[in-house]
Order: sequence, then structure tokens, then C-alpha cells
Amino acid sequence: MTNPLVIFMPSGKRGHFAPGTPVLTAARQLGVDLDSVCGGRGICSKCQVQPGEGTFSKLGVTVAPGALSEFNAVEQRYDEKRGLKPGRRLGCQACIQGDVVLDVPPESQVHRQVVRKAASDKPIVMDPATRLHFVTVEEPDMDAPTGDLERLRGALATEWDLHDLTLPLPLLRSLQPVLRQGKWQVTVAVNHDENTVTALYPGLRDAPLFGLAIDLGSTTIAAHLCDLSTGEVRASGGVMNPQIRFGEDLMSRVSYSMMNPGGDVEMTTVVRAALDTLATELAAEAGITATDIVEAVIVCNPVMHHLLLGIDPVELGQSPFALATSDALRLGARDIDMGAVAPAARVYILPCIAGHVGADAAAVALAEAPDQADALTLIVDVGTNAEIILGNRDRLLACSSPTGPAFEGAQISSGQRAAPGAIERVQIDPVTKEPRFRVIGSDLWSDDPGFAAATEGSGITGICGSGIIEAVAEMRTAGIVDANGLIGSAEQTGTPRSEPTGRTHGYLLWEGDDRRIMVTQGDIRAIQLAKSALYAGARLLMDEAGVDGVEKITLAGAFGAHISPHHAMVLGMIPDAALDKVTSAGNAAGHGARMALCNRAARGHIEALVRRIEKIETAVAPRFQEHFVAANAIPHATAPFPHLPT
Ligand code: FES
Repeated sequence: MTNPLVIFMPSGKRGHFAPGTPVLTAARQLGVDLDSVCGGRGICSKCQVQPGEGTFSKLGVTVAPGALSEFNAVEQRYDEKRGLKPGRRLGCQACIQGDVVLDVPPESQVHRQVVRKAASDKPIVMDPATRLHFVTVEEPDMDAPTGDLERLRGALATEWDLHDLTLPLPLLRSLQPVLRQGKWQVTVAVNHDENTVTALYPGLRDAPLFGLAIDLGSTTIAAHLCDLSTGEVRASGGVMNPQIRFGEDLMSRVSYSMMNPGGDVEMTTVVRAALDTLATELAAEAGITATDIVEAVIVCNPVMHHLLLGIDPVELGQSPFALATSDALRLGARDIDMGAVAPAARVYILPCIAGHVGADAAAVALAEAPDQADALTLIVDVGTNAEIILGNRDRLLACSSPTGPAFEGAQISSGQRAAPGAIERVQIDPVTKEPRFRVIGSDLWSDDPGFAAATEGSGITGICGSGIIEAVAEMRTAGIVDANGLIGSAEQTGTPRSEPTGRTHGYLLWEGDDRRIMVTQGDIRAIQLAKSALYAGARLLMDEAGVDGVEKITLAGAFGAHISPHHAMVLGMIPDAALDKVTSAGNAAGHGARMALCNRAARGHIEALVRRIEKIETAVAPRFQEHFVAANAIPHATAPFPHLPT
């Protein structure tokens, strides 16, 4: 007689098992994704399954009553104390008696798919580096003297097949009290990426552990606090990068370090403190203690990378822009002074691609996966430097382009950061040349009823990066600016808003009681320089790839999320492409950091991918300069833009 047939859903994995085989054992033999923390003791409830009943014609099996054994004493005790949901069974206690179909609910799967945080986010399959393992450790014995650590290691080897684990000194210090408090039972948090213990808890730890996915930008430090078992984002937030007081952009921070002995140390100190502040704030928001955070993944540009690590970034400010290391890094949180998180917490920093193309660009590549696409994709992450990736599954190229801070509203006469009160959207009527605009913090346009009341709190304070791009593009479309970027006089443009400003003209966007917001000739020049640098970088990669066009353009970063593809193309910031193929990837770097936090395999994948990416250095490429000059016109002196609506 054949043994009972067991089918696990949703995987559909099936096999025959002798009557009396525990469900957890069958799952393990078939490679079914069924969780366990307590190792089958009937106390963690991670192994729950839901047996089906009746006939499953598609599966070709009928499940009769009694297909699983009755509740044993352990399962009974768990049910009485903690309560199992109706129909649920503990997989480690229930044994197979007859043909059965068992549903493994998402919360019992280690590799469950994480709900997407934003529509643009790709789903993440959980494969966390950190897992909890409950063990019973032998008590010390006068007749067989061994250390507590050696007996803990023995238990982990016997019960979980875990060998050669590292136990950092802070945990060794707490090992003896933890073991005795837990009456020789202990839950061990193991980082499987590094084969290192990251936390010890007396008895069974029934609560989740947490990790931080940190996008360390030169302006803002943003982070997600994630549940490491479910991938759920429990809190998100950001703080300003306190290094701003040493320099607005990356190069000014490198200069600060060059000009001020010890300046790099000052910047390292403040950014590390900011990470601690952020960890503490997010933990409080999620209602946990920061010491429940056992892992962090950090993505950042190369200058931030070096300053975080306490490496003087001076080499990044001069040719050949050598990084101290481009490899991914695995560190202790305490190595970078993260004192708020668990004492033995680990930090993973994604690899850098090149001297000016950092771990943040690697995270974007991980999130956007151009290496898995057929379409030739151009990915642009716009910041003080534009980081640009071009390619598909066959070949990938990357470069960075010195756009400067104009796209962030800096170097613009009325420019400001994207904050409430900043003009972010602009339209100019091509006939009347009258503008209307929207400011951050209100959904109303400036000519909508109620706009004044809606903006009363913030006022109208300036124009941010996306606002100046739209303003210049609209001025070009309305004929206020010519193809060379020259603002016409009132007579030439037909609007008194074109005002003389010295030997040039400016366009009056808005006038309040005590403030005027003009787009000046200098502003147009700053945007021309920035957009030419961005375009020239993209064009250089296209030359290297031997292509004249791209099939898809992805604008990454917070800036990319706000920029209008139409206006970007009117300006000639990006190469020509069908407008519906130009999309925003949102915070792709932050999403890439979450992927590396929640999925261990993603780390190996990005490390291998970065080795494959061909780095192109714009500073030494003669064609970069040629493209830069040609790209000064709006949209461009030579390249056609057939997809641009006229
Ligand atoms: Fe822990 Fe079943 S494995 S309760």
C-alpha cells in the first residue's frame, strides 16, 4: 500500500510520507517554505498550516476526515494558552495519517512576498539575512567542563545545523546571564549573510526583529524601519543631513575637507549622530526600542560613503577619482558609531560602481533591474551629480555627470529647496504669456479660487528644482526664451513680464507685497549648463553602446518623481523617447536598500551586477565636451526630438 499523499499549497509540492510523519518534516524534505523558530517544540507557532477538506479534483486527491493526527498534548497546550485560529494546525506537531492538502498561509512562509509600498516599487520576496533560532543549551557539568559558548554552539549545530558562528564580544558578555535567565533556553538571532550572531534573548523570543533601509543622501537622510520577518515597513522618515553646514553640495564638502584639517572627522561625526537620531525616532514611531534593530542597509553616493566610514574623501575630488574601496561592506553598527541599535547589529553597505557613481546608483540598478530587461533603458538619478545607467540584459554602462545643484534649486536667483511655499509647477499661456503655478503644500493653481487662503501659512517663498525646469521649458514653448536660451525684451515677447535686468532680461513669475520671483537670464544659463551636462552624460553612454536612441527612460530619485517628462524633453535634459516611455521610479535607491535588507540573495546579485557594469569616465572623454556644447541649445543644437509635441 502506498503511503499517504501530501500536497502543500500554494507551491503545489507533493510527496508520499509514512503515516506518523510530522507535517514540518514532510515540508522540509520537499523544500516547502514553512517557517520555524522553535525547531519543532510547539511553542513558536511559526509552522502553522491549514488542512483542506473534501475533494480537490484539480489536484486529484480527496481529503478524508482524520488525514492529520488529533491534537497531541503539546498542540493542545499551545491552543489553550495562545489559541490557534479555526482549522489551523501546528506543522511540527500534526502528523500525516492520510492523503492531505495543506495550505501554508503567508505568515508561515519565510519567503513571502512583501506588499509594495508604492505603486512603482517592485515586489520584494522575503529572504531575510537575519533569522531567529530557539535552542536548549546543555547545563554546565562539573564532570564535563566546557564553556557556555561551546555548549551554545553545540546546540545550534545539533538543532539547526549551524556551524562556525561568530559571537561578537558584546554578546559574549551577556551570554551567561541570558542563558541562566532563560533556564538554558535561548533564542539566537543569526545573520546568515555573515554567519554571525547579532542578538541573544532568554527563552523564546516571540516578537519580530527589525532592520533599517537607509538612503544617505547629501541633503536628506531617509530611512524605512522594516519588520525582518514580514518585510512590512513599520515607520519611515528622514532628517536633514547635518553636513550641509559644511557645504551645500558634495564637492564643497570635499573642499571643506581639503581646506580644513580634521574637517572630514567633523563631517563623519555629525552624519553618524544623525543616523542614530533617525534610528531612535523611527523606533519610537513604530513603538519598539531601537535595540530591536539588528541590521541596517545603507546606500549613498561615494562622498557620503567615505565620510560615513571615516575615510577622507579628498581622492574623490581629483582625477582619477579613486575610491578607497568599491566593494560591498559588512560592518558592525558600532564600527560606525551607531550606538542606539542592538550592540551587535550589522550594517551592509552596497557596492559603489565608480568614483562618482555610488552605492545609491547600485541600489537604483537593483530596484530597476535593467539587467533583466530586453528594452534598452536609460536610468537617470538626478542630484548634484547625475548618476546615469544605460543598458539591458546584454550590457550595462554607467557614468556620472556634473550637473551641479541647479536642479535642486540652488544657484537660481529665487531658488530654494523643495519645501512648502516653493513653486513646483508652472504653466505659461502661449498667447497671453501669463503664468499660473502651484506651490508645494497646496493642490490649487495660483488662479484657482482659494489659492491665497491655501498658501497663507507657507506663503510663496521661492522656486524649487522642478519649478525652475517647468518655468524655463514653458518660457521656451511660449516664445519668451529663444533656442539659445536668451530671454526676449517686452517688445520681442509681447509681455511686460519681460523686464530689463541690467544688460539682459528676466521674466516676472510672481510679485507679492515684499517679494518678487523672477526667472533671470542667469537662471536660464544655470539650467542650460545642468541640462547640458545631464544630456551629454546620457549621450556619451549611448555612443559607447553604439545606439542613437533608447527605448525607455526612468527618472529616479525624489527629483525624478516630481519632474514632468514633457518639460524635461522640451529642455533637452533627456534624449528623445516616446513620452509614455519616460517614467518616474520614485525613490528607487531607497527601494533597492529595502530589497537588500529583506532579501539576502539581492546582495549577491547586486555585487555581481556591479562587477559587470562598464564605467565610463566623463571627465576624460573628449566626446562629452562636444555633446555638452551641442546640448546648450533648447532642446538641442543637433539631436532631433521627434517625440516632442509641437
Ligand atoms: Fe515552532 Fe512548530 S516549529 S511551533
